[in-house]
Amino acid sequence: MTGMSTPVSDPSQELTGYLAAEGFLEPLLEELGPGVEVHDRLVLAPGPARPAAWAQNIWHGVERIPIASIKDGARALKARGRNWGLWPLAHFRRAQLIQDLLPHVGIKPLQFPTPVPTAPFGSWTLLEPDLILAAAHCSSPFRHGEARFVEDRATPPNRAYLKLWEALTLARRYPGPGDRCLDLGASPGGWTWVLQQLGAEVLSIDKAPLDPAIGGLPRVTQRRQSAFALAPAEVGPVDYLCCDVICYPARLLRMVETWRASGLVRNFICTIKFQAETDHETARAFAAIPGSRVVHLFHNKHELTWLNLAPDQ
Ligand SMILES: C[S@@+](CC[C@H](N)C(=O)[O-])C[C@H]1O[C@@H](n2cnc3c(N)ncnc32)[C@H](O)[C@@H]1O
Repeated sequence: MTGMSTPVSDPSQELTGYLAAEGFLEPLLEELGPGVEVHDRLVLAPGPARPAAWAQNIWHGVERIPIASIKDGARALKARGRNWGLWPLAHFRRAQLIQDLLPHVGIKPLQFPTPVPTAPFGSWTLLEPDLILAAAHCSSPFRHGEARFVEDRATPPNRAYLKLWEALTLARRYPGPGDRCLDLGASPGGWTWVLQQLGAEVLSIDKAPLDPAIGGLPRVTQRRQSAFALAPAEVGPVDYLCCDVICYPARLLRMVETWRASGLVRNFICTIKFQAETDHETARAFAAIPGSRVVHLFHNKHELTWLNLAPDQ
């Protein structure tokens, strides 16, 4: 931070907090550019929220709240909202004592499929012993953006299914009976399993085979071929095109454009996977497609998820 004041110390400035996904502070900083203040994974920047796909949670309208005591801190937070998640950065014991005076909020893993929580979840931290930073409104419906599910460790062949569970939960959209899904890069079959379990029909495409337990499920058809060699006209109308293929982002974008141009797909959920470098330019090109969201899911690695959903009927 250059200049005389920092975003936190200048109370005349509106302040936004961006909590980086774990291990992905660097791409978040690249996205946000200069003029930010970094506190571990929490990045503070002046002004209203900007697009930040790599933020796991965005703290809107961060307030700087001077406090005289632990009780005073708890009182100040309670006056601003009910559900608060402490993001511990410093003064851990004092911060926890404040949190202990706030209403208890049980955090249970979600049983998929489930409606997304609707009650606002605020975030706060004790930056100095006498200074709270708090945002009663955050971008994620989950505490600190952590979408945790009751996992199925027995049936799906890998943990990739958690990404699709999270994407569908955030989208508040569930494919179901009568829906036709295309799963590109489907092997070994975690996503195919999710779609099939919801009652949809699934066409699974991968050069590698599906796990036999998934490939043998009713309503699942697999084709061993490249996703890039598949022509929309040979597939026909698709309710959900899901893609988790390992490929360069620009190649995915070209394929997506072909499917969009066909007009045959209602909803897209695609993973944009990065190599060592994060291709921000292509991520922005995905975000610029009308009706799109590009997010880093809690279950994403060095990748983003692009959602483009038909408007609610
Ligand atoms: C991360 S894995 C997908 C995991 C899958 N979503 C699941 O839930 O089990 C990526 C897949 O992309 C596939 N893949 C890579 N290049 C491909 C291509 N050109 N066409 C189809 N699949 C491809 C790989 O074979 C691999 O199975």
